[in-house]
Amino acid sequence: MKKLLTLILSTCLFVSVAHGAKKDTDEEIAERIKPIGSVHVAGAAAESAAAAGPRSGADIYNTACVACHASGVLGAPKKGDLVAWQTRIDEKTFDTVWQNAINGIGGMPPMGTCGNCSNDDIKAAIEFMME
Ligand code: HEC
Repeated sequence: MKKLLTLILSTCLFVSVAHGAKKDTDEEIAERIKPIGSVHVAGAAAESAAAAGPRSGADIYNTACVACHASGVLGAPKKGDLVAWQTRIDEKTFDTVWQNAINGIGGMPPMGTCGNCSNDDIKAAIEFMME
């Protein structure tokens, strides 16, 4: 059972990492083709701004964290379970909990599998789960 879960989770991890990598490549391509034509420039610039721009905690949660934090897979504190979140923060401080999400802890993968998240994106996602 545990092996199966690990297999499923690592598949999820692989898919989301691969997805993240593809997005970067698309952005790189958009960046490279920018000077080709003025019509294209506007479109590509708008597109890459949208892709690289700030995302809300909700966006990040729904993309990267929901798989485990909605149902509490492997003991993940659930979204909206304020007691579970507050207990962790009381024990370790918010900054430590945040660092653990960045570096990974137990069944929690580094950056929660969000390959293109910044540290602040992770913070926003944590805050969203505590709402
Ligand atoms: C593969 C499943 C999985 C995914 C995806 C995942 N988490 Fe977790 N997360 C866990 C588990 C399991 C724990 C509990 C770890 C422990 O305490 O041993 C956890 C714990 C945490 C903690 C508490 C850390 C602490 O020190 O107590 C934070 C914060 C967190 N996750 C944030 C996130 C964020 C933000 C995302 C999305 C960007 C995310 N997680 C995605 C499984 C996941």
